[in-house]
Amino acid sequence: MAIARNQWYVAAYSEEVGEGLLARTICGEPLVMYRTGAGEAVALADRCVHRRFPLSRSNRDGDRIVCGYHGFTYAPDGACVAVPGQTRIPRTARVPAYQVVEQDSLVWVWIGDGTGDAAAIPRAPWLTSPDYVTVRGMEPLAARYELLVDNLLDLSHETYLHAGYIGTPEVAQTPITTEVDDEAGIVYVSRRMKDVECPPFYATSTGIEGRIDRWQDIEYHPPCFYLLHSRIAPTGVEPGPDGDDPRAFHVEVGYAIVPETDTTTHDFWWVARDFALDDADVSRFLHDSNRTVVLQDVEALDVLEKVIAAEPAGYQELSINIDTGGLAARRVLQRLTGAR
Ligand code: FES
Ligand SMILES: [Fe+2]
Repeated sequence: MAIARNQWYVAAYSEEVGEGLLARTICGEPLVMYRTGAGEAVALADRCVHRRFPLSRSNRDGDRIVCGYHGFTYAPDGACVAVPGQTRIPRTARVPAYQVVEQDSLVWVWIGDGTGDAAAIPRAPWLTSPDYVTVRGMEPLAARYELLVDNLLDLSHETYLHAGYIGTPEVAQTPITTEVDDEAGIVYVSRRMKDVECPPFYATSTGIEGRIDRWQDIEYHPPCFYLLHSRIAPTGVEPGPDGDDPRAFHVEVGYAIVPETDTTTHDFWWVARDFALDDADVSRFLHDSNRTVVLQDVEALDVLEKVIAAEPAGYQELSINIDTGGLAARRVLQRLTGAR
């Protein structure tokens, strides 16, 4: 499947964009990112118009970038403002500057045509809320982004791939419900488990002993934004009538599934929790455990990419009930890319 270009993509976490020149390829476009003195995040094409030298390997002069090869100098809007050896600056001396929106501690870019609608960017308020503490990271994936979409929309794989971390037998045994909001282009997948085993990931972090009710409510905003609202409570504890839920533990897991190239992906992940806010041990545990889980997926998906590259054309996979979320996601993605 093609990559949908006229879409917003997460290009970086806010803290990654600063003084330095950050190189990152998004949807096949090499970008250089940095932050101006006034605090604005900037994303320019990472290719000098002169002889293609990467601007990310160049130097800053205030808010400008001075190409490290022959000194073409660029302003944050991409315009070349100085060239060596002459005062006349060619009219075409400019690199593309990409539209950037920074919110919820995420830096989003629009690499498509025209101007993106910033109001269309999905939100993740937990990432900056004082009521939550977040751990996060990003892993490189040597596989196409569709494989990660498939993976995250079908959490039954937790039972097999993530046993001992977040997987228990009941995840794969419990049926899901799938809903698609066609107008908004959002896929919802829900798995509500009652009176089940508590996996180590949640037993250690919440301190719950004994059996739990475990909810996994997925919200996928194609192409790149994935939220997993996870609720863990001692068995039988229900939310109150107006949504108050003080005895439950809430974990907002999220991913940004961002194509780097056709066959490689940036796997941004985070885990935000509304409990043990001051407990550094819990933060460390959730960071390390989730990273391990992400790397288990990365390892599996890297293998799948190789399998796909080697298989004969026209190979047909087989889908069952657990795949309704992933199939719904593919349909929305196909619409976004104009693919059939
Ligand atoms: S390649 Fe950038 S100035 Fe020559
Ligand atoms: Fe996984």
